[in-house]
Amino acid sequence: MIRTVRTIAELRAHLAGWRDQGHRIALVPTMGNLHAGHFQLIELARQNADKVVASVFVNPTQFGPNEDFSRYPRTPEGDAEGLAKAGCDVLFLPSVETMYPLGAEAAVRIRVPGVADVLEGAHRPGHFDGVATVVARLFNMVHPDVALFGRKDYQQLQVIRHMARDLAFAIDVVAAPTVREPDGLAMSSRNQYLVGDERRTAVELINNLRMLREQAALGLPLRGLEAEAEQRLTAAGFEVDYVAIRRADLSVPEDGGEPGLLALVAARLGKTRLIDNLEFDSA
Ligand code: PAJ
Repeated sequence: MIRTVRTIAELRAHLAGWRDQGHRIALVPTMGNLHAGHFQLIELARQNADKVVASVFVNPTQFGPNEDFSRYPRTPEGDAEGLAKAGCDVLFLPSVETMYPLGAEAAVRIRVPGVADVLEGAHRPGHFDGVATVVARLFNMVHPDVALFGRKDYQQLQVIRHMARDLAFAIDVVAAPTVREPDGLAMSSRNQYLVGDERRTAVELINNLRMLREQAALGLPLRGLEAEAEQRLTAAGFEVDYVAIRRADLSVPEDGGEPGLLALVAARLGKTRLIDNLEFDSA
């Protein structure tokens, strides 16, 4: 059984004990409904620290009014079991009142300009403000030495790095590779929303990202490649929000031969919105 704490006081009692013993502490923030992608973050945390805290909190401030906050899957027992197996030391399971003591309306918000405004930020207004706001709170509650985030949410990772640097959090932000299903679909809590043929169609996301990597390497014009990928995804049954080839900092490249490029995609299949990305220089 993993130790589960729900209040900041309980959390701080554990942390104080660990600090007295000179332990290095890692934080893995999540929204629960944990899968192999999350557990990989716990393993990486163990390699980077002596003690690992995972948080499970479905954060209301990062969901838009028509998004899936209320139906987001909540599986606390399974999460606790999986975290224990993965070697996590403490599960922090705060209530909305613990995370937002003055209420969501009165909550102090963090806004990250620039990197949070494009792509996901443009399609989900306020989303990254909510992410930065909750992650800053978690950083303040835990004061970890290191915090781990997945590359699956590439733009989120960049937003958090920007915030951590700008607000001088003394925390190493470590990124973990995307964990995929055997057919290549990036693992996500939202995959379970896929019904009927949608699950089989979903693999077209990574297939198209891989195609973009090959085509960009051939020196074909990037804007045309993005448009063609969008057309293929639309023909496969997706409603596409964006397909974009970007530099690591998410600025727009001119030439597919530049090092460090990646392709990012967001698209809806039926009611389910999926995102994925592929860094061209990675394996
Ligand atoms: P959540 O979607 O639960 O993801 C928690 C962490 O797991 C994030 O860092 C995410 O990038 C990582 N992750 C999810 N699927 C992954 C996969 N297939 N491979 C590798 N890593 C994966 O992201 C959030 O929660 C929230 O926005 C949060 C940061 C917790 C703030 O509320």
